[in-house]
Amino acid sequence: MWKGRFSQPTSQLVQSYGQSVSFDWRLYAHDIRGSIAQSKGLLKAGIITSDEQSAIEKGLLEIRQEIEAGQFEFKQSLEDVHMNIESELTRRIGPAGAKLHTARSRNDQVATDVRLYTRDAVQEIISLIQSLQRALVEAAERSGHAVVPGYTHLQRGQPVLFAHHLLAYVEMLSRDSARLADANKRLNVCPLGSGALAGSTIILDREFMAAELGFDGVTQNSMDAVSDRDFAAEVLFSIALCGVHLSRLSEDVILWCSAEFGFITLSDAHTTGSSLMPQKKNPDVAELTRGKSGRLIGNLMALLTLLKGLPMTYNRDMQEDKEPLFDSIDTIKAALAVFAEMMAGMEVNETRTRAATSDPMLLATDLADYLVNHGVPFRSAHEVIGKLVAHSIAEKVAFADIPLSKYQEFSSAFESDLFACLNLETALAARKGIGAPSPHNVTAQIARWKEALSQ
Ligand code: ARG
Repeated sequence: MWKGRFSQPTSQLVQSYGQSVSFDWRLYAHDIRGSIAQSKGLLKAGIITSDEQSAIEKGLLEIRQEIEAGQFEFKQSLEDVHMNIESELTRRIGPAGAKLHTARSRNDQVATDVRLYTRDAVQEIISLIQSLQRALVEAAERSGHAVVPGYTHLQRGQPVLFAHHLLAYVEMLSRDSARLADANKRLNVCPLGSGALAGSTIILDREFMAAELGFDGVTQNSMDAVSDRDFAAEVLFSIALCGVHLSRLSEDVILWCSAEFGFITLSDAHTTGSSLMPQKKNPDVAELTRGKSGRLIGNLMALLTLLKGLPMTYNRDMQEDKEPLFDSIDTIKAALAVFAEMMAGMEVNETRTRAATSDPMLLATDLADYLVNHGVPFRSAHEVIGKLVAHSIAEKVAFADIPLSKYQEFSSAFESDLFACLNLETALAARKGIGAPSPHNVTAQIARWKEALSQ
């Protein structure tokens, strides 16, 4: 493509070192779409005739079909997807093909292609996030009124509905999809027409080409347009954070299906056995997701590190943006899909959740709140209940079995109605403020999410 200036062929080592077609071939459909828009821009500017434009479009669509049928041979000697497609087009249709790259550089071409590719990927990821959210909401609904301890520091804290715990992840995931949708606004701007870095003396209707490609507008600075990979960084961050959320869910799942917790059972289809220990049923999907989230963070770091030292404008380093981007897109899509399936097959073991929530200590805060309702300042109430906890542990006597007279030794504010707040159901129903886990609230949240996710 640049043979005019050179007298030596490219070294074999340089060719295989510099080629990107082994991974950027997957931009083919977006590259072809971009090239068709370019050809329409050239036609509109009078650079090519309508016969030439038709030949270009027809040729490109045939090439796309062949790629999709696995009949197209990408050549490493042609470096990248862009040159492979263009050179094959010219081989087929002659001079019209050779006019396609007028007023275009691979710099604005690749920036356009990657934006188009990422825009589609973002939509797919958002819809996979929604499928996982639906699976979590359904799992929450199936779990009914199952109660689990809510933990801080992985120490039992206060009772919550298991459904409330699952819905926390639905909230996190909704922020992930909102972040992706927001990144999409800045992504969906067309760099085509920015050329290598300074546009061109041949003026194409950039707004027309952008509209052809479904972009919301065009970039406003040709140098920025070919240098900018912010959109990829934003998407990689959004994916990495989504991965972190899945990793935290994974950690919960792994704990819940351990014999120590035993809160859930995963289906046989979503667990694996051991080659040595016949009894094992391992939560590999969750462990792999926890592990893969590291890759997602790594990919974000790789891109940021790649960009930080680059002067304006395009530098070949930027070819290294694709593998992390593709890898994160593939990884998060796979993780979301398999997690949705796994959540659909998850069962709650109510005997185990009930046993865990029969721990009377879970209601210590409720006793403190009881004192507050009887006029005791919270700090004093906290201290009184702390002493009662110590008494309960030392005497091996549960709150419910401590007589009223003993309670009154700790605080004169205690009356016989204190025992009512030691009931799990009452305690949960009392947590009725906005966002708290009363069964009434949780039912309303499930309904809200079902409605929101039905669109
Ligand atoms: N394969 C290149 C990339 O992915 C395309 C752009 C090449 N531009 C250039 N001036 N060498 O970045």
